This record gives sequence, C-alpha cells and structure tokens, in this order.
Amino acid sequence: MKLLLAANWKMYKTGEEAVLTLTDLGRRLSSLPEDRQVIVFVPFTALAQAGQARAAFPAVSLGAQNCYPAEEGAFTGEISPAMIRAAGGTWVLAGHSERRSLFQESDLLIGRKTAFALKAGLGVILCVGESLPERERGDLQPVLERQLEAGLAAVDPVFLPRFAVAYEPVWAIGTGRVAGPAEILESHAVIRAFLERKYAGRGGEIGILYGGSVKPDNAGTILGLDNVNGVLVGGASLQAESFSAIALA
Ligand code: PGA
Repeated sequence: MKLLLAANWKMYKTGEEAVLTLTDLGRRLSSLPEDRQVIVFVPFTALAQAGQARAAFPAVSLGAQNCYPAEEGAFTGEISPAMIRAAGGTWVLAGHSERRSLFQESDLLIGRKTAFALKAGLGVILCVGESLPERERGDLQPVLERQLEAGLAAVDPVFLPRFAVAYEPVWAIGTGRVAGPAEILESHAVIRAFLERKYAGRGGEIGILYGGSVKPDNAGTILGLDNVNGVLVGGASLQAESFSAIALA
C-alpha cells in the first residue's frame, strides 16, 4: 500500500493561485519516492484549470472536496463525480467534519456519496472523527464505528483499492492541537479492527490517514505510527514549502 499524502485546500485559492502552488509543489516533489502518493483536494473552481496544467506537476493527483451522488439533474449548487473526472480530478473527499457540522451532512448522505463516487470511478477518502464532547463521554469507538458503518454501507468491496479512511478528531482540526501518538494509535486501531471485521481479511489493505493539525515538524512521527498509512493536511498544505516537507517526511 502506498503512503497517501493528501492536502485539503478547503475554501482557499483561485484557479490561478492553485496552479502556481501546484507547479511549485511539482518541482519540490520531482523525486517523490515510488511508495508515496500525493493528492491535492482543490476548490471546485480551481479543478479544471489545475487539470489542464497537470503536466507541470506529474507527481500530484487532483481531487475535489465534495460531490453529489447523482449523474446529473436538478441539484442546484452541486457537482457530480463525472464532472470532477472530466475536469481532471481522480479523487474526492466524503464526510469531512466541516461538511458534517456546517452543512448538516448526515451519515446516510455521506454513505451515498462514498458508494456513488467509487462506482463513478473516483478514489474516495471517507473522513471520520469524534467531537470533543463525544470523546469526553467515552464515545470514541461507537462514534467511529457508526460513521464507518454508514459510510461504507453501500460500497462494493471491488472498489476498496481506491478507498481510504481519514481519522480526523474534530477537536484537532484547524486548532493547532494535534492528537498525541496514544490517541492516534487507539483510534486507528479501532478503525482497523472495524475494517478487518467488515472485510474479512482485506481490512489491512485499506489506508488509514490521520488528519488534524499535521505540520512539517510532527508529520514524521505521525507517519511512523502503527496503522497510519498517510496524512490529510489542511492549513499546512496551503504552501508548497510546508506541504512538500510533510510529503517527504
Ligand atoms: P488542519 O485541517 O490540518 O488545518 O487541522 C485538517 C483537515 O481539515 O483536513
């Protein structure tokens, strides 16, 4: 399994700014080791422009941060997996905590997005993670299992080779408060055990990424932990310098 180094640019960068950063990133990652894959999740409006400039950053795959689970139709404000692919995206995020909390996306909708996007040919990173009150109540395991169960409910296992989970504790996202090694190990073990149970014997093939205040100075330690197969980076992914340092950590 390749190590996945993923950047979530959220609502930052125009098309032009995205191409500049991606080109800089492409230069810095020209000797990316074979066993690593870099994906940048750009805003919808930057995707086509970035897709057309792909030759300048061959080491980087492009993704979108969200999609709607239908081929086309009367879904104002949404875009389909086919549109993402046509624009040059090969991956999509599902269930980021900001989608869950700010846009009230349900476990059910996230499951539909995950299954539909995989079927439509995209790779999917399904994001899961507990809030601080949930953790303090001792609900870490039930919350992660509920999100995974719903997220994977309709997924055909043939698509597992282009599926990954990102564990992102809500209290560590954008807060500068990174989960400690013990917390990461515990949560990733819960996720791994769930995947092993669900996919009898194949759960070990699924990448589990950590996300939440990953920076160049903590990435190496995090990537060295058991059951950590990559990272999903927000703030520190916006500059090519810091994200390339993480991708090469
Ligand atoms: P952060 O964001 O690295 O800025 O904490 C992570 C994410 O939201 O994916």
